[in-house]
Amino acid sequence: MKSFKTSHVLTQLPTQFFASLVQKVNKVMSEGHDVINLGQGNPDQPTPTHIVQALQEAAANPVHHKYPPFRGTHSLKEAVAVFYKREYGVTLDPEKEVAVLFGGKAGLVELPLCFTEPGDTILVPDPGYPDYWSGVALAKAKMSMMPLLAENGFLPDYSKLAPEVADEAKLMFLNYPNNPTGAVATKEFFAETAAFANKHNILVCHDFAYGAIGFNGKKPISFLQAEGAKEAGIEIYTMSKTYNMAGWRIAFAVGNESVIEAINLLQDHMYVSIFGAIQEATKQALLQPQTCVEELVARYESRREALVSACHSIGWDVKAPEGSFFAWLPVPDGYTSQQFADILLEQAHVAVAPGNGFGEHGEGYVRVGLLHTEERLQEAIQRIAKLGIFERTCTM
Ligand SMILES: Cc1ncc(COP(=O)(O)O)c(C=O)c1O
Repeated sequence: MKSFKTSHVLTQLPTQFFASLVQKVNKVMSEGHDVINLGQGNPDQPTPTHIVQALQEAAANPVHHKYPPFRGTHSLKEAVAVFYKREYGVTLDPEKEVAVLFGGKAGLVELPLCFTEPGDTILVPDPGYPDYWSGVALAKAKMSMMPLLAENGFLPDYSKLAPEVADEAKLMFLNYPNNPTGAVATKEFFAETAAFANKHNILVCHDFAYGAIGFNGKKPISFLQAEGAKEAGIEIYTMSKTYNMAGWRIAFAVGNESVIEAINLLQDHMYVSIFGAIQEATKQALLQPQTCVEELVARYESRREALVSACHSIGWDVKAPEGSFFAWLPVPDGYTSQQFADILLEQAHVAVAPGNGFGEHGEGYVRVGLLHTEERLQEAIQRIAKLGIFERTCTM
């Protein structure tokens, strides 16, 4: 069959590193092994019933069978404003400071298209969520990596960025609670970020995908709570994790009016908007009692305790994540991330995501998702214990 030549930009897209992990996992499973897959980031719990019911009712309403308004329903944007006020004390203008997105990923990919020219610099965390790279490649911009180091609490150190890079950069991606490290941001760090970005005229996009998931009773803070943040950029909040709505594809961008307008303008030309019934159910999720969110965070916290204690019991010196549903575990001496992940998959039938897939500074770690029951997580660590690796490297 004839095969059409694709555009140059498609050939420049980064390889989907984790596609090969999925293939490897599938192969081991097809050989009949019971793989405990801790490598993925797909929430394991269903969407809370009251949200599903809201969708079912709204789906029957003919109002939603027509095209929805181009820039999303006013009532959803109002609910987003109520949510931000209630949760973070942040005031938003529903029409000017809220954009409805087809999932957080869409917003992350749209931003470079809206704000950079080919060759412009975009600051990207390393390690970081690989979808930032996709938007950079589609806009033909270039990435400048901001190392996230354990000694800095996995926060970037702006004083280490070359002054010319800071001056050239047009856009910066940040993400706290962080995927993959599980780190959370401090108020001081967000204030410093806003000041740094405003000084160098960099647009900040804070990806708040794990905004609801903080441990030890500490609620993660919004970037928009920092002074000067609205001046500096936006935050993207997805329904995927807080409400287990990953399959629904809905999120929103909030903050700087000019950025929201640009996102809306691009979307006017690409889509109409999300199915009105999904917008209605999202509104209900944001406005109704948040017991389901509290229960979800407690569930992840209990899994985190189970995982971390199991690791400690076999001599694996890991730190508990402060937020997100990931744990960032150091690889024992003598292995690369990839080698260690391969051994765990092949010999223990436990899949983990090798840290180098998130960037150069992810080397030396593997990422584990808290997306299985306590028993399954403990079993995974017991299987790893049987490999004897930690008996040999107990001094790490
Ligand atoms: C850091 C981060 N940002 C954004 C997303 C995208 O979420 P969604 O597109 O489902 O809203 C994810 C999903 O895994 C993520 O881990």
